[in-house]
Amino acid sequence: MTSTGYPHDNYNVAQNASYEVFENALGLPTNDIAYKVAGILAFENTIKTFSDLDLRVGDVGCFTGGTTARWMQLGKTHAEGRRVQVLGTDIHQGNVDLAAQEYQHLTGVQFRFMDTGNEIPRIDDRLYHLLLATFVLDTIPSFADVMILCRNMVAALEVGGTLYLLRLHPVAIKSGITFGEYHIHPREKWVHGDPLTIELTNQKQRTITINDSFWEPERIAEVLSNLGCVVQLMDLGLDPESLVHEHLCREVAAVGLSLDLPEWSVPLYQLICAKRV
Ligand SMILES: C[S@@+](CC[C@H](N)C(=O)[O-])C[C@H]1O[C@@H](n2cnc3c(N)ncnc32)[C@H](O)[C@@H]1O
Repeated sequence: MTSTGYPHDNYNVAQNASYEVFENALGLPTNDIAYKVAGILAFENTIKTFSDLDLRVGDVGCFTGGTTARWMQLGKTHAEGRRVQVLGTDIHQGNVDLAAQEYQHLTGVQFRFMDTGNEIPRIDDRLYHLLLATFVLDTIPSFADVMILCRNMVAALEVGGTLYLLRLHPVAIKSGITFGEYHIHPREKWVHGDPLTIELTNQKQRTITINDSFWEPERIAEVLSNLGCVVQLMDLGLDPESLVHEHLCREVAAVGLSLDLPEWSVPLYQLICAKRV
């Protein structure tokens, strides 16, 4: 597996019979928890909204397919017996090929190349009940392109369908935070459009540099609401008022971690949910 410096998944379904043993490439339990919370919430909301027996799920920016396999696994356990199909799509043919090589044997999972700016490839030519794009928008260097992708994602959703965007929380990247072995160095001010360079350094002085762009969540929310969505910004953190607080506590406990860890002192991740109405 090539390393891109992204906090991506790199688990091998062939060697991992059940979800519990899936692991992130960087071995970050908090990352794993964020994906789980996002996915569980997404499936719970989707089955509340739709009575369809077949659910079409899109994983936009699927990279090498780890997330796509994860959404399928979560769909199996949290979609209450519905038949789930997941299509992972990416603008890099090499990623799509690697994803297909690794995960296409999974029933209901497929991968397709997508062209930047073009419509999102569909399953059976039909709209999606659910779309997820995790750690994708920040990798796009131009906000005009972010807006185009948002427009295409919303256009690919059924009415009532929801798009879930997972990212690092702006508060965490401003205030700096330690999570697992890693540390994000603080930088007080980030302005919409700034190059987002985050160095994660662990105790063994291993540094991972992420070179992305900083997009204000409010600006993304504005774009999505102008496209006809009801948008919610959710903190994955300790605020008991947060809609995901209960899910978060459950998943943290499930892996034997404590909520007293530094990573939960400020919200480390943010979930942007946009429901097409
Ligand atoms: C940081 S990786 C995230 C991968 C995966 N979603 C995860 O959470 O592990 C970002 C991926 O988004 C893809 N990507 C970037 N811009 C895209 C676009 N406009 N449409 C689809 N995919 C895109 C990149 O090729 C890359 O594979």
